[in-house]
Amino acid sequence: MTLAELEKAQAESLAEISAAADAAAVEALRVKYIGRNGSIPALIKAMKDVPKEERPAFGKAVQAWREAVAVRLSERGAELGGACASGAKIDADLTMPGRWRGLGVKHPLTRVIEESAAIFARLGFTVADGPELENRFNNFTALNTPAHHPSMDRSDTFWFGDDCLLRTQTSPVQIRTMMANKPPIRVICPGRTYRRDTTDATHSANFHQIEGLYVDTKEKPVSLADLKSVLAYFAKEMMGDGVTVRFRPHFFPFTEPSVEVDFSCHVCKGKGCNVCKQSGWIEVAGAGMVDPRVFEFVGYDPAEVSGYAFGFGVERIAMIKYGIPDIRWLYENDIRFLNQLG
Ligand code: DAH
Repeated sequence: MTLAELEKAQAESLAEISAAADAAAVEALRVKYIGRNGSIPALIKAMKDVPKEERPAFGKAVQAWREAVAVRLSERGAELGGACASGAKIDADLTMPGRWRGLGVKHPLTRVIEESAAIFARLGFTVADGPELENRFNNFTALNTPAHHPSMDRSDTFWFGDDCLLRTQTSPVQIRTMMANKPPIRVICPGRTYRRDTTDATHSANFHQIEGLYVDTKEKPVSLADLKSVLAYFAKEMMGDGVTVRFRPHFFPFTEPSVEVDFSCHVCKGKGCNVCKQSGWIEVAGAGMVDPRVFEFVGYDPAEVSGYAFGFGVERIAMIKYGIPDIRWLYENDIRFLNQLG
C-alpha cells in the first residue's frame, strides 16, 4: 500500500464509521479496523515488507490512522447514545456511587512489628532479614549452643535432615548480619519462628520474634546500661508513659551476662492486677551482652568489639498491649476480632 492509498483508506474508514447505524455496527467496524485481526494491525505486521527508507513515514501514517479510527469509533458510539454492543440501552444510573468493599485493617502482629521498627529507627537501628529455613550453624552452633542442648532435640525443633531446620528464634539473623558486616552494627530483625510446641492459649508452633543487636568497636564500648536505656525507651514508646523495665539474671548461651526483661505493668502501673498476675511486672524479652564466643564464631576479635543483643516475642507484646487473652485469636483471621483492633 502506498502512502496515497493509505490516506484514501483512512478517509473511507472514517466515513464508514460515521455512517454506522447502531452500536453493533460500531463494534463490527472496531473489529474490522483495529481488532486483533483487523486491517490496521495487519498493516503494522507487514511493515517489514515496506522499503526501509519509506518505513518511518509509513509507520507514522499507520499509527495516525489507528488513532483517528479509535477516536471516531468512540465519538460515534457516544452519538448513538451509549447503547452497548448488543444494542440494548444500559438500564442503570451511572452517576450512582459504586459498591464499596471497605478497606481492611492491619493485623495486630503487623502493627507491633511496624511500630517497633519505627521506635528503633529513631535510635538508629535498621531492619535486617534472614530466612525461616536455617542451618545448624546459624541457629545453634554460632550462638554458642552446646551440641547436647535440649533445644536441638527432634522433639523441640522442626528438622529437615541433619543441617536444615525451621529457625527456632530470630537470633541466627545476628550471625548473618555480623558475618556480612563490620561494626558498628545496629539492627533489629523481626520475623517468624518455629518450635514443636502443642498449641494452647499461650503457645503456638509458629510465632514471631524481634531480635536486636548492637555491636561497636572498642573505641565505643557497649554496656549493659546502654541496653537498659534502649529497652526502657522502647517500653515507654510501645506501652505508654510510666512503663519501665527491670532486668532479672538469667542464662542464654549467646549472651554473658544474660537477663530476662520485664515491663512494669501498663494496666496497674506496677500495683498488681490480673494482667500481671499481681506481680506488677510482665516478662517480655531475653537479652544480654554478646558472648565473646559468638564474636569468635563470626570472625570478630572479642578484644576489639563489644555489644548487646535482645529478643522479644511479638505475640507477647500484642497480647499485653491489646489485652488479647488467647494467642490463637491472632491466627484465626476472624475479621470480627481483627476489626476491633484496626
Ligand atoms: N533467642 C532467645 C529465645 O528465643 C531470646 C533472646 C535472648 C534473644 C537473649 C537475644 C538475647 O538476642 O540476647 O528465647
